[in-house]
Amino acid sequence: MRVCLSCSFSLGSQLVKMSRKFFVGGNWKMNGDKKSIEEIVKFLTCGPLDPNVEVVVGVPAIYLEYTKSKLPGNVAASAQNAYKEPKGAFTGEISPCQIKDVGVNWVILGHSERRNVFGESDELVADKVGHALEVGLFVIACIGEKLEEREAGKTEEVVFRQIEAISKKVCDWSKVVVAYEPVWAIGTGKTATPQQAQEVHCKLRNWFKTKLGDCAAQKIRIIYGGSVTGENSKDLAKEKDIDGFLVGGASLKPEFVDIVNSNKQTC
Ligand code: PGA
Repeated sequence: MRVCLSCSFSLGSQLVKMSRKFFVGGNWKMNGDKKSIEEIVKFLTCGPLDPNVEVVVGVPAIYLEYTKSKLPGNVAASAQNAYKEPKGAFTGEISPCQIKDVGVNWVILGHSERRNVFGESDELVADKVGHALEVGLFVIACIGEKLEEREAGKTEEVVFRQIEAISKKVCDWSKVVVAYEPVWAIGTGKTATPQQAQEVHCKLRNWFKTKLGDCAAQKIRIIYGGSVTGENSKDLAKEKDIDGFLVGGASLKPEFVDIVNSNKQTC
């Protein structure tokens, strides 16, 4: 196991971590109907959800307004995608302005399913991030390597390439949450170990340090996604550069509440 020495844990670094509000996003993907959304809203409303955690759920576009009207005030809704243009002849797409218009302030961009199933390039993802920010949305920007890239020792190269493209379009990182989601861990039940995730998160934070300086880098929230559950979230949350989660499958189930509350123990 390789350990990132510059990230050895200390009380100081724990305080720095606490200064970044823990963030838990749910990504419902193309799941749900009005009936099941009501069930999800029920467990989110009952919670109780740790008030120190920012909670945002990624909802299919067609249910954004419906879900928003039902969600409790401590849970925000997010779109799962948006195009890079404000309007026009782009059949089937939705724009950041339209997302804002229905009162939603977040969008997930660059998810690995968008990249790998729908062929979105680094450049397109970056353009989408730039435009969403221009319009005033907050962005969950996803990056992550495929299994063959990890096995070829290319994890760092891939995530740095993806974040570099995105960073060209970002002026204000307080509006962006970076989601590191190794593709091999998404929907596979094969979670990265806390050490594997921390190693990449630490490298990403160091990358931000070299580009933006230490102070700015310490403020950026880097969350982990890939088969996060109520069980494994507790250990992942202890890592000093893991500032929350993006949760797929488990965000549809009551255990999502446990994931939201998984940071309680460490602070
Ligand atoms: P998963 O999905 O938790 O089902 O692995 C995570 C994601 O795709 O964001």
